[in-house]
Amino acid sequence: MSILDRLKNSSGAPSGGTNNASGAAQQRPQQPSNAGGGGSNQPPQQQATRANDAASAARASKEGGNNTQSEFKQRVQNKLLAEMDNLDSARPQELRKAIEDLFNTILNEESVVLSRAERQRLFEAIAADILGFGPIQLLLEDDSISEIMVNGPKNIFAERKGQITRVNNVTFDDDAHVLRIIDRIVAPLGRRVDESSPMVDARLPDGSRVNIVIRPIALCGPTITIRKFAKTPLTHHDLIRFGSMTPEIADFLRGCIIAALNAVVSGGTGSGKTTLLNVLSSFIPNDERIITVENAAELQLQQEHVVTLESRPSNVEGTGAVTIQDLVVNCLRMRPERIVVGECRSGEALDMLQAMNTGHDGSLTTLHANTPRDSVARLEVMCLMAGMDLPVRAIREQIAGAVDMIVQQARLRDGSRKITHITEIQGMEGDMITMSDLFEFEQLGFDNGKIIGRIRPTGIRPKFMERLEDAGITLPPQIFSSGGGRR
Ligand SMILES: Nc1ncnc2c1ncn2[C@@H]1O[C@H](COP(=O)(O)OP(=O)(O)OP(=O)(O)O)[C@@H](O)[C@H]1O
Ligand SMILES: [Mg+2]
Repeated sequence: MSILDRLKNSSGAPSGGTNNASGAAQQRPQQPSNAGGGGSNQPPQQQATRANDAASAARASKEGGNNTQSEFKQRVQNKLLAEMDNLDSARPQELRKAIEDLFNTILNEESVVLSRAERQRLFEAIAADILGFGPIQLLLEDDSISEIMVNGPKNIFAERKGQITRVNNVTFDDDAHVLRIIDRIVAPLGRRVDESSPMVDARLPDGSRVNIVIRPIALCGPTITIRKFAKTPLTHHDLIRFGSMTPEIADFLRGCIIAALNAVVSGGTGSGKTTLLNVLSSFIPNDERIITVENAAELQLQQEHVVTLESRPSNVEGTGAVTIQDLVVNCLRMRPERIVVGECRSGEALDMLQAMNTGHDGSLTTLHANTPRDSVARLEVMCLMAGMDLPVRAIREQIAGAVDMIVQQARLRDGSRKITHITEIQGMEGDMITMSDLFEFEQLGFDNGKIIGRIRPTGIRPKFMERLEDAGITLPPQIFSSGGGRR
């Protein structure tokens, strides 16, 4: 199948090179009845009627008739796709230019008077549908946007600088339009989304993480959530600049990672856990063998000796799944010096703790929890999910023995993401796990929509300090004194 055929299929255009866009109308009942239309080989009378239709459609569109506008766009697009048979270029720039030329010809044939700006807008919308990911292409190209949320065809939201707002000037025509773009996303991955499998995780070619849910599960229509892949991953310098951590905290965390402490990054959805995990992993010395295990490969480690493993859902026959747990167990046979698990959600937590307890120090993972204490409770529940029927006390002993510290990350009310706690897990007292906060975020006020505050030491010196010293890490003593810390 040529690139053009693929483009046509995913754009809902006629396939098989009929060179007749009205074929599309027959194949796709959702098309308006006047959709399609021949090229210059049509009888003049028919052409004149079409030109009149187009002109009235364009007029109506100027008057704000959204349906008519999208019908007109659809008709021009179908015509364009039907005539694209003669184009044969795999290079996007050439293809775009050829499409633009064809578009201009078709518009002239339609005898529609559009202003230069309207013409350009229509072309960009059609080109985005044919060559890119439709209306959201512009949002994907906008580097200030970190997340895109499509809740059905007309409700699109984006996150900028931690704030989620509605994107007013971007909409899809209808459900079918969103579904065509979804098809464009999943088809190259050999996946499909339909009523029998209405939820799918996928990835864009640039690595962005995509989740898709369609009707009947999503009642508001086809729903797409895209976590954009950072072209250049955030570093600890960025996090210091954003006020998410201080230089002292960065030094402390670097020391902990070099000394091979086992750490868990805890936080809510989208709080910046993966980003912080990436930053912590960047402190792992370059000569250590790192094995990463993730659901969707998001980590971007810069070290030389890294093996990246990605889990896999089952295929259409329901077989072939490789879970995070399978990968954690397998990676123990790959002579890891550091194991980095993108996120623990279930029984793999127990395997992870066992790895940490059996000589794989310096392992890192993340989990969903809102406080360090909750994250310990969450670890317990996940270990129970492993189905080993272990008594709770045994699980707590595993946790207390394995995890040295929890770094709590949060997205605050003002949209900023910050480390709010660094907590040491000290051991057990009776049946309880003992923990103590080493650093804590203190909110001092609220100014101009921004939270003013700082992360400061609680005054407690960690019990694992000796391990840091054994590893040759020297930290200024005032780093832990409650008078220290920097705004
Ligand atoms: N400290 C930070 N300051 C500003 N932006 C950040 C910070 N940390 C992460 N981000 C941005 O926030 C978004 C979410 O980050 P990330 O993917 O790390 O969150 P997460 O907690 O792993 O999300 P999820 O729960 O969906 O896995 C990304 O766009 C990322 O670039
Ligand atoms: Mg994440």
